Amino acid sequence: MPMEPCIHVSGLRKSYGSVQAVDGVSFEVEYGRVFGFLGPNGAGKTTTIKVLTTIVHPSSGTVRIFGKDIVKHQREIKKRIGVVLQEPSFEANLTVERALELYGLMWGMPGEKRHDRARELIEKFDLASFKDMKNDELSIGQRRRVQVAREFMHDMDLLFLDEPTMGLDPSARRILLDYVKRHVQGGLTVFFTTHIMEEAEYLCDEIAIINRGRIIATDTPAGLKQRYGGVKAVEIKLKDSSAQSVMHIIRPIAGGSMIETPAEGTIRISSAEAQEMLVKIIESLSRNSVLIESISVNPPTLEEVFLTVIGKEA
Ligand SMILES: Nc1ncnc2c1ncn2[C@@H]1O[C@H](COP(=O)(O)OP(=O)(O)OP(=O)(O)O)[C@@H](O)[C@H]1O
Ligand SMILES: [Mg+2]
Repeated sequence: MPMEPCIHVSGLRKSYGSVQAVDGVSFEVEYGRVFGFLGPNGAGKTTTIKVLTTIVHPSSGTVRIFGKDIVKHQREIKKRIGVVLQEPSFEANLTVERALELYGLMWGMPGEKRHDRARELIEKFDLASFKDMKNDELSIGQRRRVQVAREFMHDMDLLFLDEPTMGLDPSARRILLDYVKRHVQGGLTVFFTTHIMEEAEYLCDEIAIINRGRIIATDTPAGLKQRYGGVKAVEIKLKDSSAQSVMHIIRPIAGGSMIETPAEGTIRISSAEAQEMLVKIIESLSRNSVLIESISVNPPTLEEVFLTVIGKEA
């Protein structure tokens, strides 16, 4: 018998009064995968997480986690999931180390395991320099790091992370993403939201783009780029000529597109027809005896895809 996916969502709706926060969302997440939920502010990401983690009730639709209905099996499911929400949730007067241990206790972790786990997380998340400080003395980024680390105090099969890297510096962000990645290799399933596209690309196996409560695209990061990445950038490096000296050749061909000169002797053209233009430009340059040093065609970034997809909806 085929195994049910880790998360199965079908026709999920959630309204707050007259606000339709989630408006008929369906998707599945397989075990051991990272599923990224991307979308503009107010799109319905946090609401979806709150329903999936049984914090709020769905208005309609079905959600099954570990093959079980979340309304009927709420307690059982809650035991096996972790969640880091956007809003801070922390005890102001406890030191970082104490807070971690207390959280482990809440989850019923035995004493020694609790202590070892707290020490491991302090080391792995680089919290040692402020482990004896109280939560309300920490900077915003430090607090967020503790909040995310804390969730790893207990063992779980599925983890929801709502913008976990918000406020983190680049090195703390990388530590967190790599820590999550390692756990995914160990079998953890992750539902992840972020506004940082490089991050989504780095971590996610699959991405859904949600806008105004509806999913408007789902695919792998590479698949999304292929489907929606109309814009490509072509870069031409000239051998002995300046970029300006060949503009009279380039402009008639690439007229309406964005033309940049990122370096002396380099021309960058961004256009949906960049590749077709490239052929004409090469022909024309060679007719005019302009030597080319190198050519590269760069795929679109996930950010370009996101803006294209959301832009089409607006
Ligand atoms: N408790 C609530 N009461 C009323 N409306 C709410 C409530 N929570 C969310 N909403 C509304 O639901 C919609 C979706 O909100 P949600 O927090 O899910 O968005 P989001 O995608 O997480 O956005 P962000 O990127 O800003 O975190 C918004 O229009 C929001 O105003
Ligand atoms: Mg949110």
